Amino acid sequence: MSIPRTRILGTGRYLPEEVVGNEVLAQRLDTTDVWIQEHTGIERRHVAAKGQVTSDMAAAASRAALEAAGLTPADLDMIIVATTSGDSPMPATAVNVQQKIGADLIPSFDLAASFAGFLYALTVADQFISAGTYGTILVVGADMMTRLVNPDDRATAPLFGDGAGAVVLGPAQSDGRGILSARIHADGALGDLLKVPAGGSAEPLSAEALAANRHRLQMKGRELFQVSVKHLTSYSMQALKAAGLTSAELDWVIPHQANRNIVNLISQRLGYPRHKFVEDLAETGNTGAASIPIALDGAVRDGRVQRGQTVLMCALGAGVTWGAAMVRM
Ligand SMILES: CC(C)(COP(=O)(O)OP(=O)(O)OC[C@H]1O[C@@H](n2cnc3c(N)ncnc32)[C@H](O)[C@@H]1OP(=O)(O)O)[C@@H](O)C(=O)NCCC(=O)NCCS
Repeated sequence: MSIPRTRILGTGRYLPEEVVGNEVLAQRLDTTDVWIQEHTGIERRHVAAKGQVTSDMAAAASRAALEAAGLTPADLDMIIVATTSGDSPMPATAVNVQQKIGADLIPSFDLAASFAGFLYALTVADQFISAGTYGTILVVGADMMTRLVNPDDRATAPLFGDGAGAVVLGPAQSDGRGILSARIHADGALGDLLKVPAGGSAEPLSAEALAANRHRLQMKGRELFQVSVKHLTSYSMQALKAAGLTSAELDWVIPHQANRNIVNLISQRLGYPRHKFVEDLAETGNTGAASIPIALDGAVRDGRVQRGQTVLMCALGAGVTWGAAMVRM
């Protein structure tokens, strides 16, 4: 079995107060509560208040993670925020988080790997800690997806919610707890499956782009569904193997929370029991890069995931990017 060099010291999450149920969306979109539940498993989602920004959510989740770790912002050596719906194109959302939580003048940067961003950030942080360059790193997944979707598009608007999740990482001890394996991947040939066409150098914002909603998220849902099932199944198996574990030694799977039907198929194909999958998407919808750390924190705080247990996390998002990590908590 692999020897961990980085450990999760604490977890935290933040979900905005306002909750919007499917039936509310069904009042203005050509959809129904039944359709959304049957095709996704989502029942409601949290929606950020007017004036609230991504770094507000990230800072709240970070404070909770620091408290759980028994640390203060002064203990941090680096902040990485995984997001694709940050406060603004510049500066990075991470520097706003640094200010809001009152951290020192530590390196703070964003990582844009869509819904796989949290696993990408975890992998990057693991390298710094393993190398001994930095001791304590805050990794946050935060996305305000409701500001990125077209609220009038029934194919995407019901799928997403807002939120943030965070972990504080530090050096592992010799008790076997920590990151056992973490692998990240990308296939740019599938960049068209999920994208926001306008707002960058390819298509700067213009009146035409705004009128055509090209600054909003566009998704080829069916194709994304298929590639998610395929990659998340196969790379989860690889993460397990890389950690030197068998599925009998696996306690929990925390998949990216996009669609219950994707989770059902991964469970079937892995031959791993469905009740061992942590799932909170009925309450949150797809919260982008925040999805895994939100689910992880929920399962830690309600006592499902316990100290010493093994957790497999896997996610796939725009790019497409994907990753899988095995952690002993
Ligand atoms: C988008 C998604 C929910 C669609 O569910 P699905 O079961 O695959 O639905 P189908 O593609 O079979 O059906 C789509 C049909 O439903 C319609 N539809 C889409 N959204 C709808 C809604 N909210 N209400 C009613 N009908 C809807 C479409 O117009 C389409 O109609 P058509 O067949 O007449 O063209 C699903 O494919 C999905 O979750 N995809 C990927 C999700 C994701 O974010 N992955 C991220 C990485 S894990």
